[in-house]
Amino acid sequence: MFYSKIKAVGAYVPEYTVTNDDLSKIVDTNDEWISSRSGIRRRHFSKGENTSDLAAKAAEVILKKAGVKAEDVELIVVASVSPDYATPSVSCLVQSKIGAVNAVAFDIGAACSGFVFGLSTADKFIKSGVYKNALVIGSEVLSKYLDFEDRGTCVLFGDGAGGAFLERSEEGGILSEDMGSDGARGLSLTSGFRNVVNPYCEGERFIHSYIEMDGREIFDFATRTVPKSVEALIEKAGISVEDIDIVVPHQANARIVQIVARKLKIPMEKFYLNMEEYGNTSSASIPIALNEMDNKGLIKKGDTVLITGFGAGLTWGSMLIKF
Ligand code: UT7
Repeated sequence: MFYSKIKAVGAYVPEYTVTNDDLSKIVDTNDEWISSRSGIRRRHFSKGENTSDLAAKAAEVILKKAGVKAEDVELIVVASVSPDYATPSVSCLVQSKIGAVNAVAFDIGAACSGFVFGLSTADKFIKSGVYKNALVIGSEVLSKYLDFEDRGTCVLFGDGAGGAFLERSEEGGILSEDMGSDGARGLSLTSGFRNVVNPYCEGERFIHSYIEMDGREIFDFATRTVPKSVEALIEKAGISVEDIDIVVPHQANARIVQIVARKLKIPMEKFYLNMEEYGNTSSASIPIALNEMDNKGLIKKGDTVLITGFGAGLTWGSMLIKF
């Protein structure tokens, strides 16, 4: 039986930052509203780099930290809802940019749960013996999908990329997971819609490329679903809440995290939050946080870390990882 273990985490975030005060100059909002409702104070926006550029830079950081050459990477999985193109995939662009000539590369779309879904997918390939290692990345340039006239969404999101290098191991690594989807509620958070118009099916072109969200619906979904998912995960893993050393939640909203913490009876001190600096970077938020913690020496060898993502789809995914 094989397991997969995280050998290194890494991230790359564009340098340019936009504060809540900056946004209040172009849209009817203010720092007090944004920070008190979401915990967000700044976000990083790309000034031209696309999703695969961010992902490739994150990949280089990860491989350097792991001490692994690009040509030795066997699998690249990129989770993204903001790809450069519909095709080629972000992962194929990353493969080319970093020179991972021997890797198989594909993308998955599970929005803010994407990093957890990506780790889970790579874990299956490693566990089954198909591949010995995998690079899993979440990368987003959400700024290109933001309607800067919609104050309900444009203040919440940011750009960035992060990921992990997974390697076959004698011991886990990835200990347990709980994932789920609720497509029936999917239209409460959408982006990138275009209807079918062609010479055989005429009609008015209808494109909704911007992120559109029913914030209350997503808030309600997250605060109900995440605690249930974590409880299911803990039960499957046969551990208790006290055994969890660190919780790295998807960085959407500090209030959501506080409610989740209260429901699970996990002290807030165990949760790592950095949405203040980056906003919601969807699939990238969890690995950016893991990388920041790693750089600060906040994750020790042997720590049991719970990661939990939720978002569009609707999707959710929680995972227990032994570092
Ligand atoms: O990755 C997962 C994706 N998304 C999420 O996790 C988001 C989940 N939802 C949320 O985080 C919250 O619902 C929001 C932060 C999006 C909104 O907070 P809320 O407390 O649910 O506010 P609301 O949407 O009910 O809006 C309350 C008021 C409204 O004004 P009225 O109708 O009460 O007069 C909005 O128009 O706040 C107004 N508002 C704003 N005011 C200033 C909405 N956006 C803004 C803004 N600045 N940026």
